Amino acid sequence: MSIDLKTMFDLSGRVCVVTGGGRGIGKSIATALAAHGATVVITGRTQTTLDAAAEEISHAGGKVDAITADVSSEDDVERLARAVEKRHGVAKVLVNNAGVNAIYKRVEDTTLAEWNEIIATNLTGVFLTCRAFGRGMLTAGSGSIVTISSIGGRVGLGKTGPYCASKGGVELFTRSLAIDWAPKGVRVNTVAPAYVETDLTAGLSEHPVLSERITQRTPMRRFAHPDEIAGAVVYLASDASLYVTGQTIGVDGGWTAA
Ligand SMILES: NC(=O)c1ccc[n+]([C@@H]2O[C@H](COP(=O)([O-])OP(=O)(O)OC[C@H]3O[C@@H](n4cnc5c(N)ncnc54)[C@H](OP(=O)(O)O)[C@@H]3O)[C@@H](O)[C@H]2O)c1
Repeated sequence: MSIDLKTMFDLSGRVCVVTGGGRGIGKSIATALAAHGATVVITGRTQTTLDAAAEEISHAGGKVDAITADVSSEDDVERLARAVEKRHGVAKVLVNNAGVNAIYKRVEDTTLAEWNEIIATNLTGVFLTCRAFGRGMLTAGSGSIVTISSIGGRVGLGKTGPYCASKGGVELFTRSLAIDWAPKGVRVNTVAPAYVETDLTAGLSEHPVLSERITQRTPMRRFAHPDEIAGAVVYLASDASLYVTGQTIGVDGGWTAA
């Protein structure tokens, strides 16, 4: 299939849904997609956070809408998919960015409730959104799904058992889905960052010992800025990656090369 090499990153007219788009990595991704012409729908559990992000994106000239939803709730996700289709039409791009890691402790000290909370958002949430938005993409015969995984989905990290299980889960879920949906024109990939400076990692980046340990283990010797994750997502959302599916792009400062 030939593509226009000049406009292959252009997302004009494409409806892109970004879960957890109100802050952190998701906000950077939503801002970048809007800057490339997409109509972006950001979603999350907190209306005020979404409104503030939408205001910023809109102020910069982007087309944006904000709809609250908890990705771990089947009802919320189905309601979100219906609302997006009604207001904007079928979504061409879904970015599964919403994620949590509420704990940093050994498995023997982890409660079932803690395990369930992380799996419900990071893994079940990805299943629910892929299913809900995938229906429209399959009918349309095209679409791109990008899930924000983690180095923790590719290699083991200490004291983050449920998180690594959830991210390893989305890695293999993505590859399975990619095989099923490739003949139907829907591509499914992941982006796997290492440590990024956001609310999620504030406890680590502000901790002198842990921060130093992470920095020394990262070949680039620093945490990433959230904007540094967005480029890989724009690429996977666009025609520049039309023959790419079932893949993981590591945006990890060299972490998984070592
Ligand atoms: N920061 C890192 O170092 C790093 C590294 C690798 C991978 N990641 C991954 O990147 C993604 C974004 O992380 P981040 O660092 O930007 O985290 P963050 O700053 O804590 O933001 C998380 C976002 O997800 C939303 N969210 C959480 N639970 C949700 C739920 N049940 N339903 C809907 N939205 C929910 C939050 O909004 P509400 O709280 O308002 O719902 C927020 O917008 C996550 O999947 C994370 O695992 C992060």
